[in-house]
Amino acid sequence: MPFPADFLWGAATAAYQIEGAVDEDGRGESIWDRFSHTPGATEDGATGDIACDHYHRWPEDLDRMAEARLTAYRFSIAWPRIYPEGAGALNQRGLDFYARLVDGLLERGIAPMATLYHWDLPQALETRLGGWAARDTADRFAEYAGTVFGALGDRVPHWVTVNEPWVAAFVGYYSGRHAPGRQDLASAVRASHHLLLGHARALQVFRSLGLPGRIGITLDLQTAAPDGDSDEDRRAATLGDGYTNRWFLDPLFRGRYPADVLDLFRGHGAALDVVESGDLEAIAAPIDFLGMNFYMRRLFSASNEGLGWSERLAREGQDTTEMGWAIVPDALAEQLARLRADYPAIPLYITENGMADRDAVGADGTVHDPRRIDYLRSHIAVVEEAIAAGSDLRGYFAWSWMDNFEWGLGYRPRFGLVHVDFETQLRTPKDSLRWYAGVIRSNGRELG
Ligand code: FCB
Repeated sequence: MPFPADFLWGAATAAYQIEGAVDEDGRGESIWDRFSHTPGATEDGATGDIACDHYHRWPEDLDRMAEARLTAYRFSIAWPRIYPEGAGALNQRGLDFYARLVDGLLERGIAPMATLYHWDLPQALETRLGGWAARDTADRFAEYAGTVFGALGDRVPHWVTVNEPWVAAFVGYYSGRHAPGRQDLASAVRASHHLLLGHARALQVFRSLGLPGRIGITLDLQTAAPDGDSDEDRRAATLGDGYTNRWFLDPLFRGRYPADVLDLFRGHGAALDVVESGDLEAIAAPIDFLGMNFYMRRLFSASNEGLGWSERLAREGQDTTEMGWAIVPDALAEQLARLRADYPAIPLYITENGMADRDAVGADGTVHDPRRIDYLRSHIAVVEEAIAAGSDLRGYFAWSWMDNFEWGLGYRPRFGLVHVDFETQLRTPKDSLRWYAGVIRSNGRELG
């Protein structure tokens, strides 16, 4: 039986994408509040002001998770609820919210996996320090992490320090499609180091407290492939893999940044000039697991533009999601095989995987989403095969528990197992949730 008996079957969300209540109980402003309220920054001017109103509706949401028999739930903690100004005065009411949430999960037999940073940096740190481009932000993060560990560390079994540092650094500070919307490669490269340093400092604090839980980091590992079969495209794919994947895997597991990517950045005027002695040792300190978010295969072709390549996410005629991402479970298999081949063995969780569609509630009051069921089935089958091939996979979290604020794309892409009507906040479980509940009940033996 390939899935271990204690395999975690979960679903994931993130604070800014679901909570709403942005002005309540002393919460401070985050870079996503500022960014989403900037004209033109998000599709239809969407913001997370209300989102799924989970801040008020969490008991109902948790009840439904319990009905589906999720064994784990991954959520994130909003730093600006805990430290409205990023540092300094603590907001106890923010901490209390997450204490209620964690206790609510434990009462329902659902294991919490808490992410400390899912992109909602306190705006004050962006304004005053320069956000993740500044080293101080990593230290502020460690203080915030220490406070949260102190309050919840006795009962949260799984911790993720940072979600997808590649997106936080390069989409936030280089392409500017995410908050804080900067477009400066040098800042993005610095931000990537400081996000890893923040992870490392939080890890040190966690270890020093001797807490019972386990801690890791989540990377978005995206399989890179050459678009054509020229040597130039192959080179572009190798560099593209370096840029999105090895840039984070190598410092975490080998204690150094990859030379080809260092050269690439240097060649574009963005030398990594902020590494201090001891940083790399701290970043490479052992973690208990690696979280992996998986969504796509990127196809690279050599080009004179940008960093030296152009890319697309699907070939003509390929089946894609609402995001335009091709559906290629093989790319997940390849990524897991590469981790087995190139990096030390480590427990793994798929901390996010799923697809967006344009789901709607039908006349019969239900949501039929057979494409999502196919998507999840084919990816979970890959997880099963990878376990048989030797990957130490300990859990799978569907993205997402419910439809939510999909960052710059607002509310159009629907990723949820539960449909949310954003006018009425009515939740409707999709067929995929019923299917997933069956998978969970059979511990993955019945993929339907
Ligand atoms: C990931 C994010 C998550 C969600 C999915 C679709 O990159 O971590 O918040 O937006 O993509």
